[in-house]
Amino acid sequence: MELVVKTGGRVAADQQAMASLFQDLASLRLPSVLVHGGGAAVTDLAARLGITSAFHEGVRITQPEEMALVDMVLAGETNTELVRLARRAGVAAVGLTGSDGELLTGTLLFPGRGRTARVSSVNLAVPELLLKEGFLPVIATVGTGEDGQAVNINADEAAQAIACAAARRAGRDTPPVQLCFISDTAGVLDDQGRIIPEIPRSAIEDLIAAGTVRDGMAAKIRSCGAALEAGVTRVVVGSYEQAGDISRLLQGERGTSIVPGTAGPGIPASGRAAKGGPR
Ligand SMILES: Nc1ncnc2c1ncn2[C@@H]1O[C@H](COP(=O)(O)OP(=O)(O)O)[C@@H](O)[C@H]1O
Ligand SMILES: [Mg+2]
Repeated sequence: MELVVKTGGRVAADQQAMASLFQDLASLRLPSVLVHGGGAAVTDLAARLGITSAFHEGVRITQPEEMALVDMVLAGETNTELVRLARRAGVAAVGLTGSDGELLTGTLLFPGRGRTARVSSVNLAVPELLLKEGFLPVIATVGTGEDGQAVNINADEAAQAIACAAARRAGRDTPPVQLCFISDTAGVLDDQGRIIPEIPRSAIEDLIAAGTVRDGMAAKIRSCGAALEAGVTRVVVGSYEQAGDISRLLQGERGTSIVPGTAGPGIPASGRAAKGGPR
């Protein structure tokens, strides 16, 4: 496994963009996996059934009565539809949940309150098997708790844990692992709404403490930091607009790259702003 792409925001529901993204993955010719979110659809279904979703710092608490809905929406509809869409785009994909082949095991993040979990272990055996046979694994981030019951895992965190597991396995003779977060924002934005092209890992907590980065993006850039720490070589955040954007993101031509190292004396805590303004 050399590339982990996580789609969130509106992209996962945009059939045209997703078809193009699948074709990008095919033409990159890197063993890749797609990890998808889809929280908005869960919130919609929950609301229709009279359940109000609750969140803590951008992470769903997943009330026990909501867990079955998360399975239905993410593992059921969203995952299956993405696999069909991949096929229409000429890509043979296989849908997996984190419960398949012990892919994602988690420990409860809000014990007694909800079924949201933090990843405690990752088993890449099944995705690696599929990649060897030429299939693209498409992963819904529900998994199994240490108690054997269903858990819901934040998709950014799941993508990061999968990339970290792949990077830890990647030895001297194996190729590096890259991680790409596709969201509905063109990158991590500064206080003026401009894309920050590069964020040193050491600046992540400062950006969150300063309030520049909040909510889902805070969780995302923390995941980016953890990935770098585990040896993932490239970590990028951005939007997907047109064919070729995955390469552009990986090459630093779009979006925000999170890089190892510390902010230099000339770099303010809120990062460096793009010269060209919003993209
Ligand atoms: N500094 C920032 N730059 C970009 N997005 C930010 C920032 N701070 C907060 N956000 C919010 O984070 C959101 C992305 O996180 P999230 O909603 O969880 O998306 P995803 O579905 O991709 O995980 C953005 O749409 C935006 O509302
Ligand atoms: Mg999110």
